[in-house]
Amino acid sequence: MTRVIKGQTLSFAADGAATHEGRGAVAVGDDGTILWAGPQPLLPQGFQQAETDDFGDMIVMPGFIDAHIHFPQYRMLAAPGKDLLDWLTRFTFPEESRYADADYARAAASLFLSRLFQHGTTAALAFCSVHKTCAEALFAAADGHGMALVTGKTMMDRNAIPAVQDTPETGARETVELYETWHGKGRLRYAVTPRFAITSSEAQLKVSGELLSSLPGALMQTHLSESPGEIAFVKDLFPRAKDYTDVYDHFGLLGDRSLFAHGIHLSERECARLSESGSTVVHCATSNTFLGSGLMSMPWLRKHERPVHLGVATDVGGGTSYSMLATLGEAYKVQMLAGYKPTARELFAMATRGNAGRLKIEHEVGSLEHGKFADLVVLDPRATPVLASRQEVSTSLEDVLFSLMILGDDRAVKATYVKGRKVHERATP
Ligand code: GUN
Ligand code: ZN
Repeated sequence: MTRVIKGQTLSFAADGAATHEGRGAVAVGDDGTILWAGPQPLLPQGFQQAETDDFGDMIVMPGFIDAHIHFPQYRMLAAPGKDLLDWLTRFTFPEESRYADADYARAAASLFLSRLFQHGTTAALAFCSVHKTCAEALFAAADGHGMALVTGKTMMDRNAIPAVQDTPETGARETVELYETWHGKGRLRYAVTPRFAITSSEAQLKVSGELLSSLPGALMQTHLSESPGEIAFVKDLFPRAKDYTDVYDHFGLLGDRSLFAHGIHLSERECARLSESGSTVVHCATSNTFLGSGLMSMPWLRKHERPVHLGVATDVGGGTSYSMLATLGEAYKVQMLAGYKPTARELFAMATRGNAGRLKIEHEVGSLEHGKFADLVVLDPRATPVLASRQEVSTSLEDVLFSLMILGDDRAVKATYVKGRKVHERATP
């Protein structure tokens, strides 16, 4: 049955330009795709009797896309590590070891996805643990919601506790098995997932490059240049590499299907190679400040002679919030410290259309366009007393978006839709 969702509609074009209707509507068909989007007075006759969710002047926009998040870290936010490597060793690896248990992983997957919806996130590129059971559980749960999810089993064969290690051979075999079962099923995609250069041997990185080139349509996700201690360790492990980026480059892991989380301490040479190869660096601001990893500079990465594609993400559980609003707010603060003042529009565009492009799902999500899936978030600019007071002095859309990202979180998410079906609605306080 056709459904119409009304509100203040907002969507971004590929160049970041906003389309905004003060009184807008989105009509969704049986198959969950957008049949029409535009100003309410122009809503075609055929949709006028359809079941309608009217959100008044709340903002109806494409759901947020989280370009880097760890499913098996869903309950370990705020683990007080000294730095990245201490945090991984003391908290993260023991927590991820639980995902060998299929029942545990299934229950966690259901919780994890409902938490994403609660925060207005409708699609993600996610890490699983090393265990095949973990990826199975997340793929199945996402498929149950008809959700666009890209994930993969993590590969890691050294420098961790045995309970979270595989081998180059088992890692490759399980990757292929998971890809064959899940890639292209519903809206699911596979991402080849070597954790990072510290936990994958040369043999495993080589296999990762081979998998990336042999599995059509697969993405690749890993971590790059996050903390000074990590970078020093990589230098010891790969003494012949020119730098950290060169380690991945050597094994064929750069390219337009590759996403590298963090990229905080990259040199001119590294940025040039990432740019030339079409790779993406994903900015994870709350994680970077929480773990004391450093301040990633968007203008440095985007330098116009060698611009690197950028995404934006929570990096839960190194990140401290599931909320892409809070994440954009933190990105704003980090960029201010790095000497750059982004606009709210720019950051909202990155978290929707931009990330859709980076995840290669732009043809199906990221904007309010005919034929795309109706994956939507409804934001209430007056969700809290502080936000409500702020709107009394807001004079533009930019003002409203800015206040939402600085002051908002899941409380500002009134409703979330996946394929036109409501998967979350916030009770009125
Ligand atoms: N580097 C390798 N693994 C991880 C992880 O789980 N989180 C973060 N933030 N960095 C990593
Ligand atoms: Zn991460």
